[in-house]
Amino acid sequence: MTKHIVRFILNGRAVKIEVEPRTTLLRTLREIGVISVKRGCEEGECGTCTVLVDNSPQKSCMILAMEVEGRSVTTSEGLIFPDGELHPIQQAFIDEGAIQCGYCTPGMVMATYALLMRSPDPTEEEVRNALAGNLCRCTGYVSIFRAVKKASAMMKKLPQGAGDR
Ligand code: FES
Ligand code: FES
Repeated sequence: MTKHIVRFILNGRAVKIEVEPRTTLLRTLREIGVISVKRGCEEGECGTCTVLVDNSPQKSCMILAMEVEGRSVTTSEGLIFPDGELHPIQQAFIDEGAIQCGYCTPGMVMATYALLMRSPDPTEEEVRNALAGNLCRCTGYVSIFRAVKKASAMMKKLPQGAGDR
């Protein structure tokens, strides 16, 4: 099948790759080594593949790579600070024991990031709604909700804009 060139910004860096027209963003990201993005249902149901496209949470199994031409894609790798320190959201998930097998975690982290960018101090209902499309088979969600609250508090202590990606 004929391949097409796609150019986009991935975690702040310009990338140029060749893709087949029907290849999803999920498969493309994993093929180029972005392995935080997990392959779950590939039907838009589980949220393990959640990334930000132009700062909006999207299930990357439901988008073709060609659709992100000229756009910005952010994954959990892109939240890590340049010195290697974890983003407060990632740290809060660890601190609150919101990770067991970890398969859902990068998607949860990205959905949380999108939530906290638009609502820095979310209500419980907002947290539930924001994570409604992200399934976890391990933790029972209580620790995940705690992690989101902790991340919210941690991010408020950062200098303005320091947690933005
Ligand atoms: S792998 Fe994309 S929603 Fe499940
Ligand atoms: S920690 Fe295992 S699926 Fe969520």
